[in-house]
Amino acid sequence: MKIEKTLQSRIKEMDFNDIAFGNQYSDHMFCSEFKNEKWKNSIIKPFGDIMFSPTSLVFHYGQAVFEGMKAYKDKNEEVFLFRPEENFRRLNKSAVRLEMPIIPENIFMNGLKQLIDIDRNWIPKNYGQSLYIRPFFIATNGVLSAKPSKDYMFIIISTPADVYYKHPLKIKIEEKYSRSSPGGVGFTKAAGNYASSFYPTRLANEKGFDQILWTDSSTHTIIEESGTMNVFFYLKNKLITPKTNDNILNGITCKSILSLAKKEGLFVEERDIRVSEVIEWLKTGELKEVFGCGTAAVVNYFTTISYKENDFFLPDFSEKKRISLYLKKRLLDIQHNISEDPFGWRVQLKRYL
Ligand code: PLP
Ligand code: COI
Repeated sequence: MKIEKTLQSRIKEMDFNDIAFGNQYSDHMFCSEFKNEKWKNSIIKPFGDIMFSPTSLVFHYGQAVFEGMKAYKDKNEEVFLFRPEENFRRLNKSAVRLEMPIIPENIFMNGLKQLIDIDRNWIPKNYGQSLYIRPFFIATNGVLSAKPSKDYMFIIISTPADVYYKHPLKIKIEEKYSRSSPGGVGFTKAAGNYASSFYPTRLANEKGFDQILWTDSSTHTIIEESGTMNVFFYLKNKLITPKTNDNILNGITCKSILSLAKKEGLFVEERDIRVSEVIEWLKTGELKEVFGCGTAAVVNYFTTISYKENDFFLPDFSEKKRISLYLKKRLLDIQHNISEDPFGWRVQLKRYL
């Protein structure tokens, strides 16, 4: 792989005391091209604009998929990726569904590891902070006919990250719009899934809600996920999360929370969750906590759930007693190499240069 290092690092412009998600990008990016059925021209180069033909299929028919993952530092400033092979697998699962070629593991992993190694100074040091890594894969060629591109580009960029949501969330159960449907692409990280969620999310924001709690597209009676998070419902000692299907992104954080919860001896259920039972739990007070989890969001609890214009308030007890924050800490402790890693999730980054 070719490596062109920047002659002028921008790191001095980065304010690590005021990290805003996606405000600043690390010095380098990784690019690899798929042309004539072959992967070629893998390169790490200074972060910057790239030129594509206006006919590129990504602009017209949306052949674009992406991933979100993080690198963490421990107290000795060693760097750890969290479950990167899961992102690799999911990216290719998304690619297959969008009729895009498979990215070879060596291209993904070597590009990722060497890029993050070169930009390791961009990884914030504090607990809960990380470098958010965005691999994305787009169709770069086209002749305006609606068929898959022949050429593609795989790119990785990264941005220092702190908390994504700065406060607990108010959520609205969606009754009209959907983000996915059976047989569709909801289980992928297709760029279009996010574009189609912006309008209904803005409508919810205007009514004072932070996010939508998506429901199934045909009946709006089954809970799916929320914004860019999978969701958990906590009742007494039972943690319940929607069973993943075609409509739901199979979150790596969600899978990790499930493993941690089981290890902590919590009773865990993955099953269809009906809106009606959530409303019933809210009315009877059985529901102790509802929270969302995802790579960017980590774990965030909800304070309000609204359904049919009625706001239901979740119990307002101390953060010290919250199962969501307990599990968040267990996860972050593993990610930052503070606790043992019984699941083998951490991948320590070696120094390449
Ligand atoms: N659901 C959606 C729609 C997302 O965009 C994300 C974020 O990646 C998640 C769930 C959580 O997935 P993960 O934990 O793998 O980041
Ligand atoms: C992630 O959590 O990785 C996401 O993809 C969220 C992102 C859309 C901000």
